[in-house]
Amino acid sequence: MRIGVCYFPEHWPRERWKTDVAQMAEAGLEYVRMAEFSWAVLEPERGEFEFEWLDEAVDLIGEYGMQAVLCTPTATPPKWLVDERPEILQAEPDGTVREHGSRRHYCFNSAAYREETDRIVSKLAERYADDPHVAGWQTDNEFGCHRTVRCYCDDCADAFREWLAETYGSIEALNEAWGNTFWSQRYASFEAVDPPGPTAAEHHPSRLLDYARFSSDSVVDYNRLQVDLLREANPDWFVTHNFMGRFPTLDAYAVSEDLDLVSWDSYPTGFVQDRLEGEPTPDQLRAGDPDQLGMDHDLYRSALDRPFWVMEQQPGDVNWPPHCPQPGEGAMRLWAHHASAHGADAVLYFRWRRCLEGQEQYHAGLRKQDGSPDRGYEDAIRAAAELADVGEADHVDASVALLFDYDNLWALDEQPHAPDFDYWSLLDAFYGACRARGVQVDVVHPTTALSGYDAVVAPALHLVTDGLAKRLTDYVETGGELLFGPRTGVKDEYNKLRPAPQPGPLADLVGATVDQHESLPSQVETRVCRVDGDETYAFRTWSEWLEADAATPLFEYDTDGIEAGRTAAVENGVREGRVVYCGVWPGADLADALVAPLLERAGVPSCDRLPEGLRVGERGDYTWVTNFSSDRFAIEPDEDVEWLVGERTVDAYDVAVADGRIVDGLSVERLDSR
Ligand code: GAL
Ligand code: ZN
Repeated sequence: MRIGVCYFPEHWPRERWKTDVAQMAEAGLEYVRMAEFSWAVLEPERGEFEFEWLDEAVDLIGEYGMQAVLCTPTATPPKWLVDERPEILQAEPDGTVREHGSRRHYCFNSAAYREETDRIVSKLAERYADDPHVAGWQTDNEFGCHRTVRCYCDDCADAFREWLAETYGSIEALNEAWGNTFWSQRYASFEAVDPPGPTAAEHHPSRLLDYARFSSDSVVDYNRLQVDLLREANPDWFVTHNFMGRFPTLDAYAVSEDLDLVSWDSYPTGFVQDRLEGEPTPDQLRAGDPDQLGMDHDLYRSALDRPFWVMEQQPGDVNWPPHCPQPGEGAMRLWAHHASAHGADAVLYFRWRRCLEGQEQYHAGLRKQDGSPDRGYEDAIRAAAELADVGEADHVDASVALLFDYDNLWALDEQPHAPDFDYWSLLDAFYGACRARGVQVDVVHPTTALSGYDAVVAPALHLVTDGLAKRLTDYVETGGELLFGPRTGVKDEYNKLRPAPQPGPLADLVGATVDQHESLPSQVETRVCRVDGDETYAFRTWSEWLEADAATPLFEYDTDGIEAGRTAAVENGVREGRVVYCGVWPGADLADALVAPLLERAGVPSCDRLPEGLRVGERGDYTWVTNFSSDRFAIEPDEDVEWLVGERTVDAYDVAVADGRIVDGLSVERLDSR
């Protein structure tokens, strides 16, 4: 596990570079990422290339024993290029052009921009092909950031029509697959189909789903163009891309197929404000949420398996969330350890020094604006030293898989059927229950081979094909433990209902069908109880009335309403395995009541339910304990253990690393709250 930093030498006088790079090396940093927004510096005028500055920076980094990670500069096409070829710009759904002056203003489907990309990437790749100090490349920067995956320009309209023609073959097949008889939406030709622009009422859900798929595929293609050029120049380089936290519009699995390593950008105190349900707690504002970050780590780690990096790690306060609190004392060190616990092989802080100009002046760096060390610098030094002491850890070997995919996300986002129905938040309920038991989780695409997992959790497998149903049935029949959440098996791959009750092709496996579903606001009482016991549990937002067939009812509605006594969850033994279908969105206690027995049946080692904010994670022969709260805890493993970092008492925002796997039977005591 290595520590690094993102650096913009082009923002600083050359005389300063040596000092900067020396300080990086002194801190124990090993990777320096550069150049992602530097096109206008690399090519100030068409054909006038100025690469010497980057040569010098790379050399200096090499001199100090570090490695450079270079980026293609395509996230920011320069003004001369925009003026020459304005057709590269993106358009909003209403046709408004996204202008130069910020970033990410180019269209992925612009033939002109693909030409220009080819030109600049080839030049750069050639220039550094034999440079021993360049370890690898990042393509572009955060594809799709600022809502730019979906574009509505003329090039995209043409490309969409081609994509549809390729996907469906004939317009009759498209009309049939989408169901275009509804509201007179039949098309006579592919040329007649437009991107979904502004309309009076909502769009057809099948058309929206295909626009989402097409848009994501356009980025996959565009990325591949860059990857091919880089690989051709030097096949030994790794090629990566830096994805974003909980990012909805780009299929990271699909992009990752073309990469050698997957990385992502982690900003914990921002993410709890702009992409987590509810108001953040004071602790979350200081340190973020371990499970929100954990799920992203696990998703990007699982997208390709090893290696996996955090390409940008929050270094201190940042500029873009609604509020910008100072992270808790030691939080920047905590995040690096937490990433390591989830399998990261490198963490690079963004950025080296607070910059004096431009849009991000309110964003901290490891060094302050005057160049002196900032809070994150001390944390980075400590993390680098501690992680070097821990040494090589094997890759995370998770025995539980959580099924997640973007098609389900897009389909559910289009028809949430309740203002608070959010696919990620539903995933959080199930994922959080696993993590609270100390269990490592792979977040995988439903088509992944599942036989290596002891248990599989599928929170809302909304779109299900016959092929997928068969694979899941095989998994259970051969001994798998499978837990489904609500809204599973609702539609086919075109986002259309079937002439069969939910869960469609999964009905035999589940041994039950859904008679009715409803979504409910928070003022309605929502409770279930065990069929064979007295415990009651809260649920929220979504419920289904199940009709058990071969299955055994597990939970029933425990309220006075029309749902009283109806079945809410069932369990079905199928040959060697077992499947549980939960028809409600479980609260934390219900999620635990479903997950804990699942883990036990599957033989997955787990611990007592952990307090919120405290998480443990096993990786190789080590166990990380990470405390995202301001409380102090005593960790009580079943057996004595040596602590490589910290000790069994873990302070606010603190870390401990044990030499051994200690989750099985572990318990935790809260010592005091601040
Ligand atoms: C990331 C981006 C960086 C920088 C950073 C600020 O999303 O990749 O370039 O803008 O956010 O937190
Ligand atoms: Zn476009």
